[in-house]
Amino acid sequence: MKSIVLYSSLTGNTKQVAEAITSVLPAGTPCVDMKQLPADLADYDLVVAGFWVDRGTANAEARKVLETLNNKHVAIFATCGVPTQMPHARESLENAAKLLPEGVVPVKTFICQGKVDPQVIEMMYKMFPQGHAHGQSAERDARHKVAASHPNEDDLNAAKAFGQEVLAAVGQ
Ligand SMILES: Cc1cc2nc3c(=O)[nH]c(=O)nc-3n(C[C@H](O)[C@H](O)[C@H](O)COP(=O)(O)O)c2cc1C
Repeated sequence: MKSIVLYSSLTGNTKQVAEAITSVLPAGTPCVDMKQLPADLADYDLVVAGFWVDRGTANAEARKVLETLNNKHVAIFATCGVPTQMPHARESLENAAKLLPEGVVPVKTFICQGKVDPQVIEMMYKMFPQGHAHGQSAERDARHKVAASHPNEDDLNAAKAFGQEVLAAVGQ
């Protein structure tokens, strides 16, 4: 079975998770930045595609790729700024899954938290007033502080477990 891991990553979180997943897939499985998509992508039996959450869905680069994945088996994963127990994390995965071609349902999904670029935090705090959902608050500061340590070892171990579950789901 031909497998590939694809990722889109701005600041490295999703790339790190992609590499953890790849480490448990069959030796030689490529782990490729979506900026360098292989020409023979359609020939892969399993595509494990990862993105960073941008406004509640996959980031733009990944959205374009997800829309084309007509492969036999597709699994998706992501990193996001919020704790994964928040509904926003699950909803972001669901929104991204809806971008897959009609009839393509991910065999497994995975999401973990990832640090948010401090420049983005600063920009949001400038853009939105205090009191606004995206504005500065003690709660928001605390959340970013927690996010700053992710993806951590537990996240990367969970990503590896996800990779193993994907293999089991496709009968490997
Ligand atoms: C422009 C922008 C929009 C974002 N939107 C969201 C969002 O809607 N929800 C969320 O949980 N995180 C959001 N984030 C946080 C990123 O998804 C998170 O930091 C992710 O781990 C970044 O992954 P990367 O290092 O692979 O680029 C956003 C980050 C940026 C830069």
